[in-house]
Amino acid sequence: MSSPRTTRRSFVAAVGVATLWGLSACGGGDAAGSETAEGGGSGAVTVGFSQLGAESGWRTANTESVKAALTSANGFDLKFVDAQQKQENQIKALRDFVAQDVDVIAFSPVIETGWDEVLQEIKDSGIPVVLVDRTVDTSVKDPYATWIGADFEQEGKTAGEWVAQNAPDAKVFELQGTLGSGAQVDREKGFDGVVGKQVVGKASGNFTRAEGKTAVEAALQTYPETNLIFTHNDDMGLGAVEAIEAAGKVPGKDVKIVSVDGVRDGLQALVDGKFNYVVECNPVFGDQLATLVKDVAAGKDVPKETIVQDKAFDQSTTQADVDARKY
Ligand code: AHR
Repeated sequence: MSSPRTTRRSFVAAVGVATLWGLSACGGGDAAGSETAEGGGSGAVTVGFSQLGAESGWRTANTESVKAALTSANGFDLKFVDAQQKQENQIKALRDFVAQDVDVIAFSPVIETGWDEVLQEIKDSGIPVVLVDRTVDTSVKDPYATWIGADFEQEGKTAGEWVAQNAPDAKVFELQGTLGSGAQVDREKGFDGVVGKQVVGKASGNFTRAEGKTAVEAALQTYPETNLIFTHNDDMGLGAVEAIEAAGKVPGKDVKIVSVDGVRDGLQALVDGKFNYVVECNPVFGDQLATLVKDVAAGKDVPKETIVQDKAFDQSTTQADVDARKY
């Protein structure tokens, strides 16, 4: 027999799937970094979404895509909270979502570990979880219904293969993303698995331009032989460009840059000759997420994982490609 919670969720979901909503979203705020699109209609699926931050162009594009898809017009009542890259903020947001008894909790975990307690609490509440972008490493059994994101390990591998083919003698400095995040751990694994022997040093730039610049300033002192940087995202790569130029060197020539993401600024750096190769990580999957959230709320079977498709860009990329880029 269904518990009252299950019955209510199934009802909300069934109505949600069958109904077209026409209510407009109205922004609101109930705490620092949180926004609520009130309304959504009586059959709306209430989604608590904990975004990990706004650290990069990729993240901004991802947030825009999620907000554009999880609208009241599409049948959602979205409660969006920005964690400002702090795990404690995410854990608080997740607990708030449980207290608010949302229909589905979605979140992009800033790092992989440290979620056991809160994931168990969510599981005990019966609210299904949709993992977005990054992954978790937890002892909780069946902690989420589904995950949607990119194959980070493949991204690192693709970057490594370019280096193996085009710069097999390069001395590589690896500019890591947020330490312990799925994107850092897996990109490093993929890259190092191909050309780890060429890596002379590593440091984190926390996925931000400013910290990327600082890390590369230090690296150019500590590892002066560096002539190629593999950066785990474009923002840090753009910070690296600044550091390389400040050191009197030419990015893209004296120090090559291989990056991940493919945001417009990253592709512009490629066209300008400052980046040498960019592996895409596509942030625009809000529509796919919306479908998954509705299916999960409706109790339908969903795939355990959905891999967002990526491509790669070399220096044949044109200004027209950059201008056509949506993010
Ligand atoms: O998790 C995806 C990564 O997070 C993106 O590559 C990076 O730009 C973002 O901060």
